[in-house]
Amino acid sequence: MAIAIRQVGPCFAGEVDGVDMRQPLTPQEAAAIHAGMDRYAVLVFRDQRIDDAQQLAFTQSLGEIEHAIGTSLRAASDYRLPTTFADVSNLDGDNAPFARDDRRRLFAIGNRLWHSDSSFKPTPAKYSLLRAVSIPSKGGDTQFADMRAAYDALDEETKAQIEGLVCEHSQMFSRQLIGFFEFTDEECERFKPVRQRLVRTHPVTGRKSLYLSSHAGGILGWPIPEARGFLRDLVEHATQREFVYTHKWRVGDLVMWDNRQTMHRARPFPAHEPRDMRRTTLAGDGPTIAQAA
Ligand code: OGA
Ligand code: MN
Repeated sequence: MAIAIRQVGPCFAGEVDGVDMRQPLTPQEAAAIHAGMDRYAVLVFRDQRIDDAQQLAFTQSLGEIEHAIGTSLRAASDYRLPTTFADVSNLDGDNAPFARDDRRRLFAIGNRLWHSDSSFKPTPAKYSLLRAVSIPSKGGDTQFADMRAAYDALDEETKAQIEGLVCEHSQMFSRQLIGFFEFTDEECERFKPVRQRLVRTHPVTGRKSLYLSSHAGGILGWPIPEARGFLRDLVEHATQREFVYTHKWRVGDLVMWDNRQTMHRARPFPAHEPRDMRRTTLAGDGPTIAQAA
């Protein structure tokens, strides 16, 4: 069956028909999926009854994987999933929901702020692929915002102002926004800020996008309060309803997004209910600083 994509969001996001992730992708199918990502930036695949190995194989047929070691507060001994996965669930190593005040849960609540995955790494992520294994009885949607449309809608003066700006990103900045301040010396070292351009250009389509994330806590050469106020205004602009697609999860959904062109955030859900979400991630092709805007 040929791959078909139907737009489901306001200006982006498509639902894909004709892909069965239990089967290997042909080169033609992989090319159609990449082309779909270039156009829609978020792709939804419904009813994929796959296991972790099949998710990993599908991911690897689209590019090189980014390992998830060291990006959360989970100790290696309490990993539920292989280190090729980011465990986006609220579950501990015994598959029990974290207690409400568990430090690992509170850190993960940072995902409820608009962000782009791994913008806190020197080479940030390309695509993320998130699969719903179990979902809560209510809430827990994921929202996406189109950073190309948001860029296009800026006035010319703002576009000129931001063109060459470089931001500092760290998971400590996003956690500080939600009142999480306690980091060990080891975590401060591990979460040291990295630099990212504020305007990115897509290598295939040539479209520009705003590279925003709640991890961004400063702009090089700017006083901190001025930078944070400016970035907050940009996020507010970029996440207006006309740029946002809300995904309501069903078990068996796999949603893939391009972190170079979108932001996303999780929405709240009842703390005691399991929400088992498993993410594989494709590595980006280099530091954004080295890439021309
Ligand atoms: C992620 C993420 C949001 C969610 O997987 O990177 O931010 O709704 N997930 O779980
Ligand atoms: Mn994320």
